[in-house]
Amino acid sequence: MPNRTLLIAGNWKMNNDVAEAAKLADELAQALPEVPAGVEVLVCPPTIDITTVHDRIQAAPIALGAQNVYWEAKGAFTGESSCDMLKSAGCTYCIIGHSERRDYFHETDEDQNKKAKALVAAGLVPVFCCGESLEVREAGTYVEHVVNQVKAGLAGLEITCPKQVVVAYEPIWAIGTGRTASPEQAEEVCESIRAAVRKLYSSKNARAISILYGGSMNDKNAFELLAQPDIDGGLIGGASLVPEKFVKIIEAANQPNE
Ligand code: PGA
Repeated sequence: MPNRTLLIAGNWKMNNDVAEAAKLADELAQALPEVPAGVEVLVCPPTIDITTVHDRIQAAPIALGAQNVYWEAKGAFTGESSCDMLKSAGCTYCIIGHSERRDYFHETDEDQNKKAKALVAAGLVPVFCCGESLEVREAGTYVEHVVNQVKAGLAGLEITCPKQVVVAYEPIWAIGTGRTASPEQAEEVCESIRAAVRKLYSSKNARAISILYGGSMNDKNAFELLAQPDIDGGLIGGASLVPEKFVKIIEAANQPNE
């Protein structure tokens, strides 16, 4: 794909206390004094680590994101963080709708829609996650399932530029299991997401909106996945905690892709 930027995003999940996060951030900053043109790097540490990681990666070409946000501006919402709080701590991105939040914390499509709107209004980029369970995959209704999540999550979201939103397709059966979707399986769904996004936004925006694949992406399988025409990057859990692996994925994103 000519002129596309690949986004390589690390989702640290609930890993690393403050000292460990500082160490990992330092290692990444050292390993990535620069990133290849056409590749963007993002790390999303736990909320408690955000300020520390921000300080450590400030001079490096690494963007910072959160893993969750609440849509209200302030008030009595114990345990939550607002968009402005994330911004004030140096975030420019925020993951929303991760299957772990949907499954363990019972978050709905409607919640994701409110979060997406609040983030875009605040000038932060939502990394909107979607994906099907193994049951849905085996029932054969996965494309419809994922497209419905995208339509519900991004409904009414007004964007003026494609950089204002990122979608991440993460089949639940591939997350943390070592069972990656094949490049063809991932491409099939990402292509359908692109078509759904095209209906929501202008086709120019749809082409330029980044659609990531996530689910056991690692330094071995990244190249083939990232070579797919509708996969514009990766959302990486486990392998993002190991600097050598994360850096290799970034290198894979930089390979010429004909
Ligand atoms: P994984 O996680 O790379 O460990 O499978 C990906 C994710 O859940 O974002």
